[in-house]
Amino acid sequence: MTLLEIFPSLRSAMTPRLDPAVWPDGTHVDDHGRITVAGVALADIADQYGTPSYVLDEMDLRGRCRTYREVFPEAEIAYAGKALLTRAVASWVTEEGLALDVCSAGELAIALSAGVDPRRIIMHGNAKTPAELAAARTAGVGRIVLDSVTEIALLASSLTRRQNVLIRVTPGIDAHTHPAVATGVTDQKFGFPLAHGQADDAVRRVLGQPRLNLVGLHCHLGSQITDAAHFATAVHLMVGQMAQIRLDHGLILTELDLGGGHGICYRPDDPQLDLSTLAGAIENALDEACARYRFPRPRITLEPGRAVAGRAGVTVYRVVSVKHITGGRTFVCVDGGMSDNPRVALYGARYSVALANRHSSAAPAVVTVAGRHCESGDELAVDVELPSDLHPGDVLAVPGTGAYHHSLASTYNAVGRPPIVAVRDGRSRELIRRETVEDLLRREASR
Ligand SMILES: Cc1ncc(COP(=O)(O)O)c(C=O)c1O
Repeated sequence: MTLLEIFPSLRSAMTPRLDPAVWPDGTHVDDHGRITVAGVALADIADQYGTPSYVLDEMDLRGRCRTYREVFPEAEIAYAGKALLTRAVASWVTEEGLALDVCSAGELAIALSAGVDPRRIIMHGNAKTPAELAAARTAGVGRIVLDSVTEIALLASSLTRRQNVLIRVTPGIDAHTHPAVATGVTDQKFGFPLAHGQADDAVRRVLGQPRLNLVGLHCHLGSQITDAAHFATAVHLMVGQMAQIRLDHGLILTELDLGGGHGICYRPDDPQLDLSTLAGAIENALDEACARYRFPRPRITLEPGRAVAGRAGVTVYRVVSVKHITGGRTFVCVDGGMSDNPRVALYGARYSVALANRHSSAAPAVVTVAGRHCESGDELAVDVELPSDLHPGDVLAVPGTGAYHHSLASTYNAVGRPPIVAVRDGRSRELIRRETVEDLLRREASR
């Protein structure tokens, strides 16, 4: 008989603390010491669907949508589909009252096939192709966000009726994010800089096109922003620009889309953007800027992706080997890696990891969880504490993988992409099946 069987109360003291800041809302530890999400043991998912698998807590994701609507009752919340888009996810977010932002013909097709009302879709992209603009036009999307001079001309010449558009502006704000996702600064590929009159020029061009109905301005400052003050600065600059447009052209724009980029934590001590603080900062900035410029309050749109889907997701892996390098690190090698999570290699992202299939009372050891791919940089979590008795066959769970994991996944090393398994009320269902080697071979032209 084990000590735990004699003193079951010891279990709660010994199970790892699963911080609600990073794990889905429905996460618990069951009597066997297994991590469960929405009443489903992650170990059972690993057995049933294989590993790696992305697990998605439906009620967590829906709950984040509801929180946004409560905290920003007057704003339009458009979920950024680039974070994670499947038909089910498109349905969940729209059922919760959100609009949808898409940035390709593929995302648009997923949204439409889920039955999303096209009028609630916003179409983005810095290099939308003529075919993508045609798809957006034909579908009748609510707004297209214009991103280049070419696009203005192309869209205008192909329209047969008026189309609501926004102009994407880069306000020159450095939100101190990773350089790869700093989209508010002037010198990058998105939008028209406020600086040097480029945004003014875009406005003039759009207003010269009778079929383009300019309703507002858009900006997106970057990703993983944790300081609400940057959004307040954006409001001041953007309302200032809207006031200038009124002065120059006599046009009052009614919409201000502040993009997404709301930071979440991947590890318990990471900073995150507090939504109430953000709401207060935007309100105050709107009050001040609209009073200063005597400009009517525009309707605000926010486009969160990560903050809606990120924490609803957990990836489960199986341990394949444990390797102790004499004089070096201990590597816990799993059956996934940079193909299902490129964020570590791309941005130096850091994650928490937990043993998911059993309780362990072994002392913790500092290890590196490494992936299976042929790159030495294929590491999922460096210097994390896991029980020292980890062995092949154990199941590990990495939280915070709902956003920009499936959508950024690749088939590197001809490893098929993992399935997405939704969990709710003690049940699981596959939203996206695993990509098989047959799927990969099917793409090949015959020899
Ligand atoms: C225009 C736009 N809106 C919204 C988002 C969503 O950002 P996040 O998922 O960080 O909230 C992005 C992300 O790149 C974006 O480019």
